[in-house]
Amino acid sequence: MARAPVSLLKTILYAVLLYHLTGGVSLAQKPVVYKGKKEKLPLAVAPQPIAFSHKKHAAVGLACLQCHAGATGKTQAGLPNTEQCMVCHDAMMADRPEVKKLAEAHRRGEKVKWVRVYRVPDFVFFSHASHLKAGEQCASCHGPVDQRDVLAKEISTSMTHCMNCHAARKASNDCSLCHQLGH
Ligand code: HEC
Ligand code: HEC
Ligand code: HEC
Ligand code: HEC
Ligand code: HEC
Repeated sequence: MARAPVSLLKTILYAVLLYHLTGGVSLAQKPVVYKGKKEKLPLAVAPQPIAFSHKKHAAVGLACLQCHAGATGKTQAGLPNTEQCMVCHDAMMADRPEVKKLAEAHRRGEKVKWVRVYRVPDFVFFSHASHLKAGEQCASCHGPVDQRDVLAKEISTSMTHCMNCHAARKASNDCSLCHQLGH
């Protein structure tokens, strides 16, 4: 009676050993995929203070970089200030309630308190400039923004998500790359 469990245990131990011995070989061939906690996406954020639609403004022909000019040369893509909106809305649709809110903020010299959608913690280093230089597209990390009236977080910013793209692109996954001292 006592023997069966012992030989079963031996079999398991051999299997584990065999797995580890061959594991190194097969791991090197399989693409690396890091797994993290399950996330629920898209993740809605609180309503924006002004009902701004990316879809409508993309349809007008405005490029992403016209309002997020920081993306190519800086860490932060940045958000547009009211002057950039008023170039058109000083005259255009000035009687609309949502545009009136915009004009009012502009007149008072206040920033619009846009609700943030994408954000990584302070101990993570992320720069738009280097990703755009490497040829990454806005849509890979933010989804089809030009088709959205209201933005929600559609693409993960988890550590495993970052690392999976880095592995796929053969970019570094050293801890110090994203967790630099002083950041
Ligand atoms: C190049 C000109 C231009 C710029 C710059 C611009 N808009 Fe617009 N905006 C438009 C046009 C054109 C429409 C109408 C689009 C439509 O209805 O299809 C519009 C529509 C809107 C509306 C909807 C108004 C309504 O009641 O239907 C809001 C709100 C708005 N814009 C806010 C903004 C904000 C905020 C900014 C700056 C971040 C901005 N716009 C920058 C041209 C512009
Ligand atoms: C007319 C100006 C304008 C244009 C053009 C524009 N955006 Fe925006 N963007 C804004 C404003 C205003 C906000 C803040 C309100 C919101 O989140 O909808 C914003 C927010 C965002 C955010 C969320 C930022 C956060 O809070 O984390 C992303 C991502 C973004 N834009 C990407 C894009 C992309 C990609 C394009 C091109 C397809 C684009 N934007 C074109 C004005 C613009
Ligand atoms: C490799 C992924 C990646 C790409 C490509 C990317 N973004 Fe982002 N974006 C992020 C992350 C991550 C954040 C949050 C950054 C933070 O919290 O500091 C962010 C934040 C933003 C924000 C909020 C304001 C800011 O600067 O933090 C805007 C606006 C934005 N992105 C627009 C864009 C636009 C426009 C493009 C294309 C020109 C783009 N992004 C390309 C990952 C990306
Ligand atoms: C869609 C693919 C993709 C995603 C998603 C992505 N990266 Fe990257 N990242 C790259 C590529 C490609 C490079 C290599 C760029 C180069 O060769 O300089 C890179 C380089 C970097 C670098 C080194 C260059 C620099 O800016 O100092 C950092 C740091 C970095 N990524 C952080 C992040 C973080 C943090 C996230 C998640 C929030 C992330 N990345 C998500 C593709 C991605
Ligand atoms: C490509 C970028 C990237 C690399 C490489 C990376 N991290 Fe992270 N790390 C992140 C991001 C992004 C977060 C924040 C995730 C979030 O928003 O919850 C994070 C979060 C963390 C946290 C906080 C706890 C958690 O899980 O959220 C720890 C601890 C951590 N990383 C350690 C490490 C270590 C150790 C390594 C090396 C094995 C490493 N990281 C490599 C991007 C990276």
